[in-house]
Amino acid sequence: MTRVTIDALGSGGDGIAMLDGQQVFVPCTAPGDEVEVSLQTARKGGGAAKAKATTQLVAGPDRVAPDCQHFGTCGGCAVQHLSADFMADWKREQVQAALGRRGVDGVTVAETFRGGPGRRRRAGLTAQADNRGAVRLGFHARGSRELIDLRACPVLEPDLARLIAPLRKVLAGKLAPKESARIAMNLTDTGVDIQVEGAFAPGPDILMDLAAFADAFDLARLTFTGGSMGEVPIATRRAPTLEWPGLHVVAPPATFLQADRQVEAEMQRLIAIASIDARRILDLFSGIGTLTAAVPQKAEVLALDSAPDAIAALRAGADKARRTWLKTAVWNLMRDPLIESELKGHDLVILDPPAAGARAQVETLARSDVPRIVYVSCAPGTFARDARMLIDGGYHLASITPLDQFYWSPEIELLAVFDRR
Ligand SMILES: C[S@@+](CC[C@H](N)C(=O)[O-])C[C@H]1O[C@@H](n2cnc3c(N)ncnc32)[C@H](O)[C@@H]1O
Repeated sequence: MTRVTIDALGSGGDGIAMLDGQQVFVPCTAPGDEVEVSLQTARKGGGAAKAKATTQLVAGPDRVAPDCQHFGTCGGCAVQHLSADFMADWKREQVQAALGRRGVDGVTVAETFRGGPGRRRRAGLTAQADNRGAVRLGFHARGSRELIDLRACPVLEPDLARLIAPLRKVLAGKLAPKESARIAMNLTDTGVDIQVEGAFAPGPDILMDLAAFADAFDLARLTFTGGSMGEVPIATRRAPTLEWPGLHVVAPPATFLQADRQVEAEMQRLIAIASIDARRILDLFSGIGTLTAAVPQKAEVLALDSAPDAIAALRAGADKARRTWLKTAVWNLMRDPLIESELKGHDLVILDPPAAGARAQVETLARSDVPRIVYVSCAPGTFARDARMLIDGGYHLASITPLDQFYWSPEIELLAVFDRR
């Protein structure tokens, strides 16, 4: 056994200690902890090693008791053992550091907008049968394909967490040995929407039991997808709808939703402020229109996304609200980014790309004359790369706010406003 002191938290949420002049990553430890560790991965070529904490000798000042019985084994939450204050500051520092690595210094990063437990409204679970048909349902264990059979999940909205045990019961005996299914749960404003996805054709027994489950738990909708059957609606009791003021959108099954409703509301508030004078707006990577919903209702908006179901849902919502000046199109912005002439005449561009960022689109934006850009990102590293390009193109990073959308996880969301100088 070796005794180490944890000096810092790594970007993946593991504690970092120095041992014989080299970094060692120790999961579930906190800065200031003194722990005994057993080394798990040999240091090859001077790279960082991984170790397991075996005995806690001294607790660091920011360590707290984790809420969840599965913490430590479940791959869902990596930093439940750290105080909310520490994590909020740490996320802010991570944003600052990502910018610093790209030479973007002297920017004031705002305080982190706080997250909290019981607020996650999206979950992707896996169900898997063992050799005797008994079903495990949960998230994968840390760094492994093994499934954690979830008994509780305090990070989820209670309306989702309460469904885990009954769903396991419904699936018990229905999956063939070793067969698995993916369960996507979304909590909309009109109720829970569940998509069960499997590479098998569901028999009548599973369809009937799932329909009864949807009734018993007042789900908005339940669908099955996969196998030779494509998408099968099992129960639609209400249209699962996002009810933003002036725009109601019926969510496609398993669609992208911002993961925390309070964070979404804060994003929309910041976008409402940034777009107050905008008349012609582009919402790039729009999904079902979460951010479009925040801009002035009289503004002319073109919303683009590569997901046809998301764009169809936004189109239907815009038509129902008679927002004819809200245009939509299915568009692959990585392959065909808008060029300068297409950007011309817009006074605001909102972009919210996947974690890979939006390098191709930002290259043309950096050369454009769009006066304001709002960039929402779930990956500070790619955001900082894109921010560097915008700044080199003559934009000023006017504000940047970390949003703790992924509570108890080291993932970081942020919203930044750039103005053309
Ligand atoms: C982080 S989500 C943002 C969604 C939306 N802004 C919202 O708040 O609900 C990223 C979106 O990028 C879309 N996307 C992924 N790759 C894309 C591409 N190559 N071109 C256009 N959109 C893409 C996804 O379909 C998804 O809707």
